[in-house]
Amino acid sequence: MTAIILDGKNLALRLERKLKEQVELMTSKPGLAIVVVGNDPASELYVRKKEKSCKSLGMNFFRYNFSENITEDKIITTINFLNKDHKVNGLMVQLPLPKTMDTVNITNSIDHHKDVDGLTSRTLGDLFQRNEWQVPATPKGVIRLLEEYSIPVTGKDVIIINRSSIVGKPLAALLLNRNATVTLCHSFSQDLDSKISKADIIISGTGKPSFIRKDNIKEGAVIIDVGIIKTDGKVRGDVDFVDVCEKASYITPVPGGVGPMTVVMLMENVLAAKLRQER
Ligand code: GUN
Repeated sequence: MTAIILDGKNLALRLERKLKEQVELMTSKPGLAIVVVGNDPASELYVRKKEKSCKSLGMNFFRYNFSENITEDKIITTINFLNKDHKVNGLMVQLPLPKTMDTVNITNSIDHHKDVDGLTSRTLGDLFQRNEWQVPATPKGVIRLLEEYSIPVTGKDVIIINRSSIVGKPLAALLLNRNATVTLCHSFSQDLDSKISKADIIISGTGKPSFIRKDNIKEGAVIIDVGIIKTDGKVRGDVDFVDVCEKASYITPVPGGVGPMTVVMLMENVLAAKLRQER
């Protein structure tokens, strides 16, 4: 078997074109504000990608930088200010925050109407109640890719190796909402290889190269790689791509798979937030 490539780059480009057409017709443009704390190099790269995408779509972009010594109160004061700013339709705090900070407390100070990251307790809670009005970008991008290639999830055994609030937990909810059987794994999970080898769909976000290999997957499995690892200036994912292609039915490349989908899904969320706020 040679796997079909799930081309996130191409799908993202098509979706971006549609978004751009919609934005062009708007008299007042949607705006995204990102709060950045510290200078994590990976965060810097992601934020720049979001800024570039906003600008190419004709959306407004506002960036608020803080040093990692800032107090949580000062961050929350800025968020409260942005909650009231009408030019800001979507508001997010880039993660990870410095380890000393209370991420949930800070994220929850975002007005849920502007929570385009889908990370407030209100929005995540709604998602788990099957109310998918605002879905975190990476999980939304994964579901959109599966839909684009008509890959069924109903009744399928899906393993997710990542339990973060950005990826694993919301993905589990989205897949449960679509009647998949979900196994959510993490660093304490036992017999991982055996669990992975039984799954119809494998979604891996560990940041460990070669975590998913040809010998630990089922013939015909669908492989979604959410890992991003930068080594020797090259970006790669969790999956042994070339070997796994021989056994999988569908696979996302890295780069060019889930990554570009994440950015365009965030932009879609910003536009949707703006339209809801105008109602
Ligand atoms: N860091 C890496 N990905 C994300 C994301 O989707 N949202 C936020 N807030 N931080 C991130």
